[in-house]
Amino acid sequence: MTAEINRFLAKAQQLAEEAGQHQRAKLWTPLNIEHKGAMDLVTEVDRSSEELLVGGLQRAFPEHDFLAEENLYPDRGKSHKWIIDPLDGTTNFAHGFPWFAVSMALKIEGVVVLGVVHHPMMAEMFTAIKGEGAILNGSRISVSSRSPLRSSLLATGFPYDNATEPENNFAQFVKFQTRCRGIRRAGAAALDLAYVAAGRLDGFWECKLKPWDVAAGQLLVTEAGGKVTGYSGEPYSVYNHRIVASNGVIHNEMLAVLADRTPIEAL
Ligand code: IPD
Ligand code: CA
Ligand code: CA
Repeated sequence: MTAEINRFLAKAQQLAEEAGQHQRAKLWTPLNIEHKGAMDLVTEVDRSSEELLVGGLQRAFPEHDFLAEENLYPDRGKSHKWIIDPLDGTTNFAHGFPWFAVSMALKIEGVVVLGVVHHPMMAEMFTAIKGEGAILNGSRISVSSRSPLRSSLLATGFPYDNATEPENNFAQFVKFQTRCRGIRRAGAAALDLAYVAAGRLDGFWECKLKPWDVAAGQLLVTEAGGKVTGYSGEPYSVYNHRIVASNGVIHNEMLAVLADRTPIEAL
């Protein structure tokens, strides 16, 4: 099993590197950009990166299934399924803000066993195999030991429909902002999670994320010694659209903030 997973990981890393090179070459060039929703963009590079990644994996592993952001692939009920965000941080990429990533995870029999988050602009490759720890460019990484929440640096994001839908993360943002050292909204959830894994951030929460945003990153965090749950502390699945990831030490404090039902007007 391990030799086989290492083979899957090597292929995923090679393809992530190729997609990253492609993205670096295309950043700051004129791009075809379309709207998927009022605020949700897709660029030609999201699509070409997905072709590169899914095409490469399909050729190498024709028996595997795929779930990726930009296309629908047949669900053939296979034991192995890749979950891929070809370009996490599309709004950043479309605006020339150089903060985006390639995110790839492999689920076997329903369990995420492998994750890759590649940050092309920083030449950083975060990887994890379930049960074997998390790695950044060949070296083991671990979450921070920082506490309490008051001394912690957090990250979050906002859903694309935040102007029209009530679940918009605004009240939670205000509550955390007054109870921690600072919050970053850098615009790529996969990198937020990779940064929690590397101890550069102490915690992350977000709602309405999709499996491809989090599948690789949540494995990085748990393999780096951190904790990932839903907002009520329940065990996390990549299909749960609310995620809390932390160094473990501040996790209960984060859950307490998320359980606070005070409306934003009363803060
Ligand atoms: C988005 C980013 C962002 C998060 C959004 C995601 P995309 O993914 O991860 O940080 O706040 O909710 O949808 O659209 O850039 O792949
Ligand atoms: Ca994404
Ligand atoms: Ca994306």
